[in-house]
Amino acid sequence: MTTLQIDPDELSGKRVLVTGGTKGMGEATVKRLRQAGAKVIATVRSKPNELQSPDLFIQSDISTPDGVKKVIEEVFARLDGVDILINNVGGSSAPSGGVLALSDDDWQQTFNANLFAAVTLQRSR
Ligand SMILES: NC(=O)c1ccc[n+]([C@@H]2O[C@H](COP(=O)([O-])OP(=O)(O)OC[C@H]3O[C@@H](n4cnc5c(N)ncnc54)[C@H](OP(=O)(O)O)[C@@H]3O)[C@@H](O)[C@H]2O)c1
Repeated sequence: MTTLQIDPDELSGKRVLVTGGTKGMGEATVKRLRQAGAKVIATVRSKPNELQSPDLFIQSDISTPDGVKKVIEEVFARLDGVDILINNVGGSSAPSGGVLALSDDDWQQTFNANLFAAVTLQRSR
């Protein structure tokens, strides 16, 4: 098996924001970018566990406009800007039952999480 070589300075000095960084692909992305020397902050709704340094996370729900605003304010306060933005949060928690079963709130929350969070974060860079 080939071992992946990682240059620890590849992304040195780069400031990165990853939405959703404590599980799954977001967690793997955070780990990989940190190995390459980037300064990475990740968003998460739940409180980071005791092994996760709080200053590397922003606790906020980016499916709400206020949550995105909080992320922008905190990431600028901590990093003074972002060079790389990874919009990892996505999907939907809307109930099953087809398109007609969904309420306006279901649609709005899904668009907020999947589209408007990425648009607003991108604009703020
Ligand atoms: N897994 C798959 O098979 C698959 C397939 C196709 C596409 N995708 C897409 O790939 C992306 C990652 O999927 P995944 O399965 O790796 O995710 P995951 O394991 O469910 O992890 C999601 C991460 O995002 C955080 N998060 C979720 N909603 C958030 C919100 N509203 N605000 C802030 N943080 C939030 C979660 O932490 P908290 O829960 O604490 O907030 C967690 O750290 C998603 O966009 C998903 O739709 C996944």
